[in-house]
Amino acid sequence: MQEVIIAPSILSLDYSKPSEQLNELAQSHAKWVHFDVMDGHFVPNLTFGPDLLKGFKKALPQKMDVHIMVEDARRYADVFMDAGADVLTFHSEALNNDIDAICSLCAHIRERGVLAGVSVRPKTSVDALLPHLDQIDVLLIMSVEPGFGGQPFMEDVLDKVKKARAVIEERNLSTRIEIDGGINDQTAKLAVSAGCDTLVAGSYVFKKDIAAAVDSLLCQ
Ligand code: DX5
Ligand code: ZN
Repeated sequence: MQEVIIAPSILSLDYSKPSEQLNELAQSHAKWVHFDVMDGHFVPNLTFGPDLLKGFKKALPQKMDVHIMVEDARRYADVFMDAGADVLTFHSEALNNDIDAICSLCAHIRERGVLAGVSVRPKTSVDALLPHLDQIDVLLIMSVEPGFGGQPFMEDVLDKVKKARAVIEERNLSTRIEIDGGINDQTAKLAVSAGCDTLVAGSYVFKKDIAAAVDSLLCQ
């Protein structure tokens, strides 16, 4: 397995003191910053547009890990790549779990020099994706229903992680397995032992000392 990467989710940043929080985040050991885009349709919440991504990219040294929870995945993949996404993850369900459409959008993302990610909701199977993991840079397993931070971790999604990890090891692929939702120092242990190498964490990181929280996730 590759080294573990922590991707703090700025959905949970304390926006009453943004500069302070961004400075702490910039100095932490987080390698990626997770940027959740929600359109109010695919999920019942609204978040950030592309101009905010440009601002965060200027303010932070980390790679921008953009997770688009939107119905029109093709359109917004380009919008957020234009704005500087380093990783662009869209939802399988937004393309009706159509594997040809998923692989074609991944190829388009890679052609633009961006890492291609595919995400699944907790109840969506990964089986159709497994033979195509060589075309996917990041498999993002949701461990809460997407839409809001601060929800409890759904442990049963780890079965999907184990299945994907077995394929990645067997085929010697470099695909990352990222997990998103309810990650804290306890659930991070479970996720890493099931085979996750990339941990998104929102409320756990921003509710306390950011650098210390990131380090506690790295010590799994
Ligand atoms: C939820 C988002 C997550 C969220 C995680 O839809 O995709 O990235 O920020 O927040 P926590 O870590 O608080 O569950
Ligand atoms: Zn996310």
